[in-house]
Amino acid sequence: MILNVTTPDGESHALEALEGWRVMEVIRDWGVPILAECGGACACATCHVYVDEAWLDRLPPRSEEEEEKLDEAFDVRDNSRLSCQILMRDDLDGLHVTIAPLPR
Ligand code: FES
Repeated sequence: MILNVTTPDGESHALEALEGWRVMEVIRDWGVPILAECGGACACATCHVYVDEAWLDRLPPRSEEEEEKLDEAFDVRDNSRLSCQILMRDDLDGLHVTIAPLPR
């Protein structure tokens, strides 16, 4: 299945993804820059992405933990998610996310 990723600079990547992998892991493993400092433990919010509106309804809702971490992220929007908290699965084939900018 494919994960479509846009970087904060506007570069697009179509990445091959496997079921059960975290969106953050797919991005990182293909070498697309994403900070993801805590390695997927929902403890850093540096894996912040914006999910394309068309896909929002297909994702499970944010957990309380994710909500709390997102509160600390930069430029949070309605479609903000932590990419380490989204697992790839068949019906997410084609999912499109944009990596959120980090404060400079
Ligand atoms: S990688 Fe740290 S919260 Fe996702």
